[in-house]
Amino acid sequence: MNEFPFLTGNHPVMMRIQALIKKVTATDATVLIMGESGTGKELVARALHALSPRADGPFIPVNCGAIPAELLESEMFGHERGAFTGAIAARAGMFQLARGGTIFLDEVAEMSPVLQVKLLRVLQDHIIRPVGADRTIKVDVRIVAATNKDLRQEIKRNTFREDLFYRLDVIPIIMPSLRERRSDVPLLIEHFLEKQNRKRPDSPVQFTDDAIGLLWEYDWPGNVRELENLLERVIVLSEGPLLGVESLPGNTREFISGKRRPKPNFAESTLDLTSAVEWYETRLIEEALDRTKGNKQAAANLLGLKRTTLVAKLSRYVHRASQPGADLLVDLNTLGGFAS
Ligand SMILES: Nc1ncnc2c1ncn2[C@@H]1O[C@H](COP(=O)(O)OP(=O)(O)OP(=O)(O)O)[C@@H](O)[C@H]1O
Ligand SMILES: [Mg+2]
Repeated sequence: MNEFPFLTGNHPVMMRIQALIKKVTATDATVLIMGESGTGKELVARALHALSPRADGPFIPVNCGAIPAELLESEMFGHERGAFTGAIAARAGMFQLARGGTIFLDEVAEMSPVLQVKLLRVLQDHIIRPVGADRTIKVDVRIVAATNKDLRQEIKRNTFREDLFYRLDVIPIIMPSLRERRSDVPLLIEHFLEKQNRKRPDSPVQFTDDAIGLLWEYDWPGNVRELENLLERVIVLSEGPLLGVESLPGNTREFISGKRRPKPNFAESTLDLTSAVEWYETRLIEEALDRTKGNKQAAANLLGLKRTTLVAKLSRYVHRASQPGADLLVDLNTLGGFAS
């Protein structure tokens, strides 16, 4: 049973992340979540809070990239009355609002160098100083930060302080991109499909195996967010209960057909066209069977073939491979029985 229903994924990397979350929830250790956009960094931050002893306290997200630099300091630490033009009353900052809970510093790489120094002090001493104040305030807050930038690169470029990085990077969690955990795509589809179908109990939809196969192969530059948005769009525009390949956006389909275009390796194959094509086709089939652990229907989906066509090709190759001089052909027999 998945203890993290909100964090869909069975890929070993996701299982490791779930185990790590479980381990650190009891502590107040600072967590730094890294990963491409849309990989679930905020979801993990919320999980860290929700499963911690601070769950009854507030969860305060601060988007360091979205708040203008000159405002961020007072947003974070608050200000005294008259601290700057327009500060007509004293105001508490996010760190004070997050007391007893968790503050989530999102897009932390966007913080100005001046503010980075101030944050470093908070991490070291657990005290903040509101803008314009000569007093300091003790804060009881768990800090979780996230970024989609490579902070080590930012350090090299002198845009991120190395000492701050080490203070934040106590427990690093690196979110995998969706293309690095493709095996979770069907599970995520099921998850988002259920969510959408709950909104339309009278007209539930489902995807064909071909459509799921294609979504599996797509590279998802926008990761889980892109998948979630794509599914919502496709479902809202659906005209029947079954969503096939044709229901998917053109760019997704074009991406896959581009990927499927064969790129023969002339160095390894012969220049005789027929045997070169056969050589390449054999390797594609071998790769597809490998990826699908010998499941011919799934392999056929990956290859864009009907199952019967794949089976026919397989028996032809097995037959040829047993002929003398067929050294270019891979022995597909090793990839599981073809009788069925
Ligand atoms: N493992 C997952 N299971 C279910 N939903 C997920 C998962 N990962 C991400 N999502 C969903 O995908 C969307 C994007 O996730 P989130 O906002 O956490 O990404 P992010 O890494 O913070 O992105 P960005 O860097 O762009 O802010 C959200 O709607 C979130 O609920
Ligand atoms: Mg985010």
